[in-house]
Amino acid sequence: MRSMASDRYITVASRAALAAGALLRRWAGKPTQVATKRSAIDLVTDIDRACERLIERTLRRATPAFGFLGEEFGERTGAAPYRWIVDPIDGTNNFVHGLPLFGVSIGLEALGPVPRRRILVGVIYDPMRRELFVAQKGRGTWLNGRRLHVSSTATLSRSLLSTGFSSKFLEHTQPYLGWFTRLQRRSHGVRRIGSTVLSLAAIAAGRLEGFYEQDVWPWDIAAGTLLVEEAGGRVTNFQGRAVVLDQGRIIASNGRIHRELLRVIAQSAPAARRR
Ligand code: IPD
Ligand code: CA
Ligand code: CA
Repeated sequence: MRSMASDRYITVASRAALAAGALLRRWAGKPTQVATKRSAIDLVTDIDRACERLIERTLRRATPAFGFLGEEFGERTGAAPYRWIVDPIDGTNNFVHGLPLFGVSIGLEALGPVPRRRILVGVIYDPMRRELFVAQKGRGTWLNGRRLHVSSTATLSRSLLSTGFSSKFLEHTQPYLGWFTRLQRRSHGVRRIGSTVLSLAAIAAGRLEGFYEQDVWPWDIAAGTLLVEEAGGRVTNFQGRAVVLDQGRIIASNGRIHRELLRVIAQSAPAARRR
């Protein structure tokens, strides 16, 4: 994709994320409908759905032929070789409680055979801090117009980490507890902030050194992986190979601590599961 085209996609995705973010600021802590999905703590609100519709409308006006995958309404196919991948609220549980840690995530994927699929554009918006993160393949990651770089911390023992425990598969909690205990002892600490997209954005900004999770979905990581890589970091699965968006497992880092982090996670990783 030529960079001028991808500039246009960054602009439209940013517009969509900012508009959804304004809705999130207005309704944080007071959505009118809250329902559950796969588990009792996997929440969805009227605002998740309203934001996804708003984002889809905005993107469709500019790119009518592109495919669209959103968390709440699933896959809508398009003829073009590109697909938007959208999480309208990442951190819905925090949003419901009024804890200001949630974000909007929009990635643009070039379709094709699976190993060659690439994310070309990533936008993450943290509406409560009014922080807009954008990344373009080959052109860096930027926060409100400022170029970002991952941190230069070289050891796990000096790293601040983040993880997420799946809200969808509560029966998978056990391995998280094992990793948590080990990594908490070997690092500056492991945060569990309740938003994968804000964790990935924080690595790109040099605020965290690493993140790992075993039950993520394409909309959780599409934009964030590009943000991390374009800021100089590394993103892999638990074997150290390229992430395939729908395989669920991710380790992201500033690159320098990646091998140490991989080693600790691999020690006690259960076999990959099918969803
Ligand atoms: C969830 C959050 C959470 C992570 C879960 C995700 P949602 O997304 O990112 O941090 O641990 O795996 O599903 O449901 O709030 O969009
Ligand atoms: Ca999510
Ligand atoms: Ca969501």
